[in-house]
Amino acid sequence: MPGEESKTVLLGVTGGIAAYKAADLARELRRAGFAVQVAMTAAATKFITPLTLAALTGKRVITSLFEDRSDEETLQSAIAHIDVARAADAFLVAPASADVIAKLALGLADDFLTTAHLAFRGPLLVAPAMNTNMWEHPATRENLAMLRSRGATVVEPGFGELACGTVGAGRMAGLDSIVAAVRDALRPPEDLNGEHVLVTAGPTREALDPVRYISNRSSGRMGFALAAEAERRGASVTLVAGPVALPTPKGCERIDVETASQMCDAVLDQLGVATIVVMAAAVADYRPVRRAGRKLKKRDGPPHISLVETPDILRTVGERKGDRIVVGFAAETNDLEANARRKLRAKGCDLVMANPVGGETGFDTDTNQGILLRPVGEPVRIEPVSKAEMAARILDEAIGLRQRRAA
Ligand code: CTP
Repeated sequence: MPGEESKTVLLGVTGGIAAYKAADLARELRRAGFAVQVAMTAAATKFITPLTLAALTGKRVITSLFEDRSDEETLQSAIAHIDVARAADAFLVAPASADVIAKLALGLADDFLTTAHLAFRGPLLVAPAMNTNMWEHPATRENLAMLRSRGATVVEPGFGELACGTVGAGRMAGLDSIVAAVRDALRPPEDLNGEHVLVTAGPTREALDPVRYISNRSSGRMGFALAAEAERRGASVTLVAGPVALPTPKGCERIDVETASQMCDAVLDQLGVATIVVMAAAVADYRPVRRAGRKLKKRDGPPHISLVETPDILRTVGERKGDRIVVGFAAETNDLEANARRKLRAKGCDLVMANPVGGETGFDTDTNQGILLRPVGEPVRIEPVSKAEMAARILDEAIGLRQRRAA
């Protein structure tokens, strides 16, 4: 299971400007729960030092097949290095230069990285990074097609400004997509097959007048990450989203809403088909009693706004849940565990993800941390991780719960 560093990623770093990104990538992979063994080509060491990557992974970086020692030791080190490669669970080459992609396609083995490729039997992933012309060259296209035909995953580069000053395709894919691809390659992918996951995400807006509203700082990223992860693992997914600026995750059905009351209607409407409900939305607790038909004018002085409670969607779902698994969230500035435990009980949840608000994680950030509470058993503490990884852990727990119930 991720989080216990039970799986090792062999990270092959090749020479190119993007090699510096390997440092952040190694860190993200570790955050995602993988042990990381780095191997670098000679060219890569010109761009980033092995020491940096050794410090970030806690493992000696392999830079060559043979080490400059006695014959006997040299032979032993070569064998040991190949053993390291064989023992890895996934082989990720990132950034992958056009040259190394060509060598992998041909099966050349003139240094450690390319030799390890031939010795390795697990999933291969490559995240190319190169100049646009090299990326578009028929030789590169054919080499990648060859790797794909053998089952390799190519994490497609993005479009953007490149180090050479041009704008085009060839920039290494985002770290999140690369980590997600590794996770995909290593996880039994269909463990949510047959489940229908209903996710709420983002804030709600409660209008005061035609231009103003009460809302909160939720970006929707946590809920969207949950929807994407559930879909990846084989679930049908319905995503009920408040107003957010995020693209719909692949394969998910999306229902856009604005107010708490609309979100409640959409959720109750979809509840019949759902088997797992995850309420990641930051729903406004109150709405103005009246929405002014016209824009409130300053000349009329400060408005007196009377508020009325919105429906508590999670509590309503908890009351009608049947054998569904219901997951709530609790974002708290203080007394995190006690407040979250109260919500777990009051709202009939099977799991509550309690997130501390403030600092570098939580609302409107890329990372999240917290405590996952269950009605029985010890809480699970989750250190700062990407929201994609947090989503994976929450769904792991939900599946665990389902399996325990079935047993
Ligand atoms: N929630 C909901 N409907 C509401 C308010 C909250 O469904 N009207 C859900 C959220 O999606 C979240 C959980 O309830 O999963 C906890 O939300 P939170 O705002 O922390 O809970 P409240 O009950 O509003 O608690 P408080 O404001 O006292 O912290």
